[in-house]
Amino acid sequence: VTLNIQPDTGQLAQAAADHIAAQIRAKPDLSILVATGNTPMPAYAELARRVAAGELDCSRVTAVQLDEYLGVSDDDPRSLWGWMVRSFVEPLGIARTVRLENPAQFEAALQQLGGLDLAILGLGPNGHLGFNEPPSPPDAPTRTLEITPESLVSNAAYWGELAVPTGAITAGMDVILAACQTLLLVGGAHKRDILHAAVEGPETPEVPASFLRRTTLTVIADRVAWA
Ligand code: F6R
Repeated sequence: VTLNIQPDTGQLAQAAADHIAAQIRAKPDLSILVATGNTPMPAYAELARRVAAGELDCSRVTAVQLDEYLGVSDDDPRSLWGWMVRSFVEPLGIARTVRLENPAQFEAALQQLGGLDLAILGLGPNGHLGFNEPPSPPDAPTRTLEITPESLVSNAAYWGELAVPTGAITAGMDVILAACQTLLLVGGAHKRDILHAAVEGPETPEVPASFLRRTTLTVIADRVAWA
């Protein structure tokens, strides 16, 4: 595990953007699994700034969807696809995407892509990755599931008055753990205990993120999430 602790969320975003941009420079046709959620947004905005400034070219990157609620249409404000397109695909000028619609379609698309080079992930307050809710073993496949009560609460922060959908589809643990590299972005004191469990605790399905240590993992966190 490479642990990169930054003084604050602004520098977390810069460090994350540096890490992602370096990988795109090294392999311009990088395939990236893309988390939504709040933590990576400032990093995505910084990448968009670099693209707009002509410092970075993402035109050959493929962006792959990590997760989605069930039963939300494309124009629903809660669509995670919509969030990914607005925050990552469009501002970075990315032409190729893989959408997560059903497990069979997704697995075929990933196979055609030749797998994932990089997975950008946030850490659920309960240790989830995507919607791989605890308990999720390392071979948990891409699947639909019921969102846990804990994650319904953490997701409510995104949607104001709107209810959080109760069903989801997620890229499996098997997909995430097969990525050549994983990048876990973690900010905030409320993530401290679960971050330590993920990085230092036993590998357990109760903390799905603990299995990331089986991959080439970089954790970028702010100080309060690690202290
Ligand atoms: C989002 C996702 C979730 C979040 C996690 C952390 O696509 O898959 O697993 O990454 O819940 O969310 P934030 O960053 O909002 O704390």
